[in-house]
Amino acid sequence: MMNIALIGYGKMGHEIEKIALERGHCITSIIDTKNQRDFNSDNFIHYTDVAIEFTCPKSAFNNYMKCFERNIPVVTGTTGWLQNIWKIKKECLENKKTFFYASNYSIGVNLFFAVNKFFAKLMNTFNQYDVLVEEVHHIKKLDTPSGTAITLAEGIVKNIERKSFSNLPIRSKRIGKFPGIHTVIYESESDIITIRHNAKNRRGFAFGAILAAEYTQKKTGFLSMDDLLKL
Ligand SMILES: NC(=O)c1ccc[n+]([C@@H]2O[C@H](COP(=O)([O-])OP(=O)(O)OC[C@H]3O[C@@H](n4cnc5c(N)ncnc54)[C@H](O)[C@@H]3O)[C@@H](O)[C@H]2O)c1
Repeated sequence: MMNIALIGYGKMGHEIEKIALERGHCITSIIDTKNQRDFNSDNFIHYTDVAIEFTCPKSAFNNYMKCFERNIPVVTGTTGWLQNIWKIKKECLENKKTFFYASNYSIGVNLFFAVNKFFAKLMNTFNQYDVLVEEVHHIKKLDTPSGTAITLAEGIVKNIERKSFSNLPIRSKRIGKFPGIHTVIYESESDIITIRHNAKNRRGFAFGAILAAEYTQKKTGFLSMDDLLKL
């Protein structure tokens, strides 16, 4: 059983709360924009085993630093803050902080990432294929392209020599209430090969975030789904 602080009580915060309680954990603090002073509360400082942060690109980095100052491990899924990732890695290395980040916590998506890398490796020698990434999300999503699309693009660029971020298109659509559809499309003159992940709801993301929080116990450093799932 862990004492969990939720930072950000929006769509993901609510979903994470449900699953945390189902798995027997306690939610000891919930911090959103209107109760920022709770970062200094006794509960947050003294009774938090891990903080799970799902807020927005502008707030995320400051929230991480507030947790680090209080020596609280962080599990975060907020996307769109990666320009500061080197500072977080430095904190983890030099000051033994614990930080878990995944652009997508769904186990299905992480299997999809593994297939994407494997497929890109195969495609390295088949120059007749071009490739693009497509992502569709609900209209309230703030960052474009999605963090998941960026991870897919990294998997392709690292494994296909003829591809770089400048010649790999990422098409983003913001429509309806979709929690996330990601598609990788290879096309030659004679055929099209498509691999796709379609999230039906947010439960898979929240479940993965709780697994990650459980994993951070007794761990330090910069952690990812590769450490957790060992794919
Ligand atoms: N990694 C994943 O698996 C995954 C999955 C879904 C969403 N996300 C990302 O998670 C983030 C949150 O998604 P959401 O759908 O819950 O968004 P949301 O807009 O529903 O909720 C965000 C919440 O954070 C709060 N917030 C903003 N600034 C804050 C601050 N400084 N301190 C505390 N709370 C603050 C907002 O008031 C809001 O309640 C987004 O960046 C989204 O892209 C990641």
